[in-house]
Amino acid sequence: MTTNAEIDLRRNESVARALAYSSTFVAARARGGEVWDVEGNRYIDFGGGIGCQNVGHGHPKVISAIEKQAQAFTHTCFQISPYENYVQLAERLNNLAPGGFHKKSLFFSAGGEAVENAVKIARFFTQRPGLITFTNGYHGRSYMGMGLSARMNPFKVGFRPFPTEIFRIPFPDKYHKITLDDTKHAFGTLFGSDIEPTQIAAAFFEPVQGEGGYNVAEPEFIEYLRELCDEHGIVMVADEIQSAYGRTGKMFAMEHYGVAPDLTCVGKSMGGGLPLSGIVGRATIIDSIPPGGLGGTFGGNPVACAAALAILDVISEEDLLDKGLRMGTQIDTLFREMTDKNPWDCIGDIRGLGCMNAIELVSNPESREPAGELTSEIVKIALSKGLVLVTAGPARNVIRILAPLSSSTEIINEGMNILESSISEAVAQS
Ligand SMILES: Cc1ncc(COP(=O)(O)O)c(C=O)c1O
Repeated sequence: MTTNAEIDLRRNESVARALAYSSTFVAARARGGEVWDVEGNRYIDFGGGIGCQNVGHGHPKVISAIEKQAQAFTHTCFQISPYENYVQLAERLNNLAPGGFHKKSLFFSAGGEAVENAVKIARFFTQRPGLITFTNGYHGRSYMGMGLSARMNPFKVGFRPFPTEIFRIPFPDKYHKITLDDTKHAFGTLFGSDIEPTQIAAAFFEPVQGEGGYNVAEPEFIEYLRELCDEHGIVMVADEIQSAYGRTGKMFAMEHYGVAPDLTCVGKSMGGGLPLSGIVGRATIIDSIPPGGLGGTFGGNPVACAAALAILDVISEEDLLDKGLRMGTQIDTLFREMTDKNPWDCIGDIRGLGCMNAIELVSNPESREPAGELTSEIVKIALSKGLVLVTAGPARNVIRILAPLSSSTEIINEGMNILESSISEAVAQS
């Protein structure tokens, strides 16, 4: 039998060390909300490949759609020989995305590529250079992605120079004591001292910040941003790469706010693990770019589009939006119960939207000092007990839950029990 340790040694020798990894096991197969390693050990998956498995690993309907498309053809390049499932996916996404206006879509491979292209579209449409982004935002690893993203270490350290004309504004966040007034004040300062609003092409934001720590936008902030964008002709771009596809109990997190962005970036669970991302939004903005202005070899690969169509079917046939909401409530309740019954004072905040649930760990609830080391200890202990967890937040002191929406109540309970005992052990050791 090949062991985890053997492959890990080979990985050390052959794979770039820049790829940090959080698990010590090597995946062999996965189904629903569970993963097994090459030694046959089972893990409950609360990470879902960082939010790519909302319908669960290896859903039979998705696998069958992938197999069928792979038998037909795997790649022609949509710009050379188009295929119908790309068009079908665009039609369905246009209908599902918020906004009663005429929409169009186009597809790429990684989420970061969707963000890059949203910048291109907004700049072309407005013929303006400026981009607004927010503290704790995350938009990918490309140069534009780094420029728009807030996390310095290790995402940005040593990679300068970044693209210019990007302006960062505080994201209102009650727990971290940043108010909407702070945000409004920062916009005022920006427009008075650095760039006039008529030179801003787009404002990029996440309705629920993913990598930044599951900070949920307040409705008043989203409404304010919409008004600001309308007033100055700024393209409002919702980055829903992590928050869409049922993660918050709605297809798009923006549906909670009743506000339609001009463009929405999607990715992750859209392709269920196959590389697929996209932009959906106002046809008038997207179609400002003439033929040939956007594209790429692999974008909207037919096998990935087949998976994406099957995923949309599964979400509606299995009622995964409602199921996700129920799962979110279950997780939130369990977090509150375990915090009440245990003698810990390390859970600073329990937050989320739908089943984008998270806890923030602190060294002292009053000072709210982040407890990054304790969090990484909890993740390590949980892994040794068979639970995969993913952290978030600038100090990596947030545990975010990205379990497939299709996970059974029993699996969620089992995972949450492991998490509870892992927190207890880590606290006892600290
Ligand atoms: C909100 C958001 N935007 C963009 C990205 C980048 O996507 P990708 O890693 O597929 O390039 C991510 C990935 O975590 C994300 O969460």
